[in-house]
Amino acid sequence: MNPDPLSAPRHVRPRRGTAPAWPTEIQTVLISETQLQRRVRQLTRDIQRDYTGRDLVIVSLLNGTVMFLADLIRHLSLPLRLDFIGVSSYGVGTESGDLVFTKELRLDVRGRDVLVVDDILDTGRTLKRVTEKLRQLNPRDLHTCVLLDKAERRVEKIEADYVGFKIPNQFVVGYGLDFAERYRNLPFVGVLKPEAYQGGAPE
Ligand code: PRP
Repeated sequence: MNPDPLSAPRHVRPRRGTAPAWPTEIQTVLISETQLQRRVRQLTRDIQRDYTGRDLVIVSLLNGTVMFLADLIRHLSLPLRLDFIGVSSYGVGTESGDLVFTKELRLDVRGRDVLVVDDILDTGRTLKRVTEKLRQLNPRDLHTCVLLDKAERRVEKIEADYVGFKIPNQFVVGYGLDFAERYRNLPFVGVLKPEAYQGGAPE
């Protein structure tokens, strides 16, 4: 009998010379795939511990949380609900400027335990504005979780409750983070070479 090709186990062998060619604009890998997976699993355990028995709604901020969120919640065994807010700094440069809401929340969070997830806490403008907006909806409580914290750049007085990594003031991309919408698909967090962003946004 022929084995079902979909259910058959895959034989994974390390191959030589097939490593993907990362963009040359990446200066260094700041946080490797292994480090990310390990730390995100730890954050999942912390959230699991703190939210067991509670009515959790995770509100994830688009677009940068795409990889972090997926990895964070896939091992979270809680009866949570998930919603998204689309928020973006105006323009495609490296500075956070005016905020534009591109998608509003759909779930009713009144009386719920809300955890806001974002990829990076930089100046703090985004998280401050979003948490202010959410508080007006009267959640039971509101906490925040970010993968990266670039404290040196903070303008607003805000800290996150769960933080994956504190990072230096370098321009990072990958694992969901972009420059001009590129590099989000890299499986690691890398530092972009200054010449890659100093010339402005690529087409
Ligand atoms: C990035 C990031 C955070 C925000 C942090 O979003 O995803 O939400 O900036 O910066 P701040 O602390 O200075 O406000 P961006 O506006 O680039 O949109 P994106 O998530 O679609 O990349």
